Amino acid sequence: MFTLEGKFALVTGAAGGIGAACAAFYARHKISGLALTDVRQENLEKTAAEIESKTGLKSFCFAADLRREEADKSLVAEVCKKFGRLDILLNCAGVSRRGSLYDVTEEQWDFTFDINVKGLFFICREAYRVMEKQGGGCIINLASQAARSGGIVVTPDYPSSKAAVLTLTKSLAKAGAAKQIRVNTVAPGLIATEMTTGFGYDPKTVPLGRIGSGEDVAGACLFLASDYAAYITGACIDVNGGIAMV
Ligand SMILES: NC(=O)c1ccc[n+]([C@@H]2O[C@H](COP(=O)([O-])OP(=O)(O)OC[C@H]3O[C@@H](n4cnc5c(N)ncnc54)[C@H](O)[C@@H]3O)[C@@H](O)[C@H]2O)c1
Repeated sequence: MFTLEGKFALVTGAAGGIGAACAAFYARHKISGLALTDVRQENLEKTAAEIESKTGLKSFCFAADLRREEADKSLVAEVCKKFGRLDILLNCAGVSRRGSLYDVTEEQWDFTFDINVKGLFFICREAYRVMEKQGGGCIINLASQAARSGGIVVTPDYPSSKAAVLTLTKSLAKAGAAKQIRVNTVAPGLIATEMTTGFGYDPKTVPLGRIGSGEDVAGACLFLASDYAAYITGACIDVNGGIAMV
C-alpha cells in the first residue's frame, strides 16, 4: 500500500480536473499536510471541502495566479510557514485552447507560456530552494502527450509549451539529483476534465478502450511522490491508455 504519511505537499491547479483528483488521491493515501492553489478560489475551496468530507484532512487553500515569480515566491513561503517544510510539489496548473494556428495571437502565445512554462519554472525554483535546505524532495510536472505528437485539436502554443516542460524537468532533475531532489514528468493523453470538454475524442481509438480519468493520472503522481520512486528522476510516465508508445 502506497503511503505519503509524514510528507507535506503543494498541488497547483487544484480547483478541478487532474489537480483536484491528485490532491484527493494524496489525501486518501495519508499525506500529512496538503496545500492547494489555483487562480479560481471558489472551486479551490470546493476541492478542499470535498477532501475534508471524504478523508477528514483539512487542506490549506491559497488563491494565486502563478504566472509571476513574485506570486510563486510568496506562495511557497506561505506554505512553508504552515508546514515548516515541503516534500512534494505537484504542478497541474496549465492552460490550453482549441483552434488552428491562425487563432494564435501574440497575447495568447505569451499567456500559455507564462503559466505552462515560466510560472512552472519559478515555482519549481522556489520549491527547490526549500528542498535543498531540508535535504531533498520531489517535484512532479504535468506535461502532455501533445508535447510529442504536436497535439490534435489544440493551438500550437500548447504542445510547444509542454515540450518545454519535458526538457525543463530534465534540467531541474540534473540540477537537483546531488541534493536528493527528484524531478519527473507525467504526460497524460486524453483525460476527461474541463480542459477537454467538447474534444469529442472517440474512446474506440484508445487501445485501452476508454478516455482517462483524473484518478488514472493521480496513480502515477502518487507513485512518483512515494518512496517507491526513490531512484527515479528525470523520467516521464505516459498515462495515455496506449495512444502512443514511445
Ligand atoms: N485533461 C487532459 O486531457 C490533459 C492532457 C495532457 C496534459 N494535461 C495537463 O494536465 C494539467 C491539468 O489539466 P486539467 O485537464 O486538469 O485542466 P483543468 O483546466 O481542469 O485544470 C487546470 C487548472 O489550472 C488552473 N490555472 C490556469 N492558469 C492558472 C494560473 N495562471 N495560476 C494558477 N492556476 C491556474 C485553472 O484554474 C485550472 O483549475 C494541465 O497542465 C494540462 O495541460 C491535461
